[in-house]
Amino acid sequence: MLPIEQLLSEHAEIIEKRLDALTSVSDSDYPALFSSVRYSLLSGGKRIRPFLTLAFSELFDGDETVALELGCALEMIHTYSLIHDDLPCMDDDDLRRGKATNHIVYGEATAVLAGDALLTEAFTVASAPSIPAEIAAPAIRLLAHAAGCFGMIGGQMIDLRGEDERLDFEALLEMHAKKTGALIRAACLLGCLSAGITDPDDVRYQAAVSYADNLGLAFQVIDDRLDAVGSEEALGKPIGSDRESGKTTFLSFMSPEQALDYARDLTEQAKQALALFPARTPLCELADYLLARSH
Ligand code: IPE
Ligand code: IPE
Ligand code: MG
Ligand code: MG
Ligand code: MG
Repeated sequence: MLPIEQLLSEHAEIIEKRLDALTSVSDSDYPALFSSVRYSLLSGGKRIRPFLTLAFSELFDGDETVALELGCALEMIHTYSLIHDDLPCMDDDDLRRGKATNHIVYGEATAVLAGDALLTEAFTVASAPSIPAEIAAPAIRLLAHAAGCFGMIGGQMIDLRGEDERLDFEALLEMHAKKTGALIRAACLLGCLSAGITDPDDVRYQAAVSYADNLGLAFQVIDDRLDAVGSEEALGKPIGSDRESGKTTFLSFMSPEQALDYARDLTEQAKQALALFPARTPLCELADYLLARSH
């Protein structure tokens, strides 16, 4: 196992333990909702976003407990986005993280509600009394902005448009910056926030944004590539789903090899963005790991 794989797995264990505690309910009149929420939230996944929050917090000497809480809130929003993304009215996929998708197991109505619940409860987590108000308020704004119309949801709307018409390359870049990039940028900035870094002119803030934006784009280039040339078994989600639904992706503009080269350049730029900081190693190793990933 590479050192970064070891580190990811140690962090994933901590993150999953906290996600478990945040969503465990001993008694409820509607247990199917909790079961559906936990089915998707605790079903594995790389936990890249909370890892980024924790890693930036550590890089800039932030409060680790606060970072964990904010990273978990973001992972809840990410999980909601996946449940809804897989619905028949969206990408209509039946496999996620190697298991049947939420709506296949619980039905569409409960899957929609489980997604809604995860989005809403993420803000309960981010506003917990244990988080100082001067961090909670900007964190909530950051999360909401990244998830909303100018972030992930905006990107998903462009993605749907890209099924009916071919997007140009500029629109594709905007789509990716929003649907995937916005939550990845939020993950890095939440780590900065846990260290009290909120000033966009701060060199640490700017480095985090540059790293995040390059990493986020590389991440979606690889995701598009794996949809075409990956293995369903390794990926845990269906292969060829983008082509089947006629989506505009990076592979509408380049070959899988060119996409890999493009992602490699972006990864180098992400790593370069952190050149000033001697303790950047895990974040650089993560960028390389995500470039070479098969899932
Ligand atoms: C999948 O994200 C959705 C995209 C933004 C491409 P991940 O690849 O991070 O999914 P999990 O959380 O590891 O399953
Ligand atoms: C989804 O992008 C990004 C989200 C906002 C969930 P994709 O539709 O490409 O993600 P996968 O391939 O289903 O994981
Ligand atoms: Mg999609
Ligand atoms: Mg999808
Ligand atoms: Mg995809």
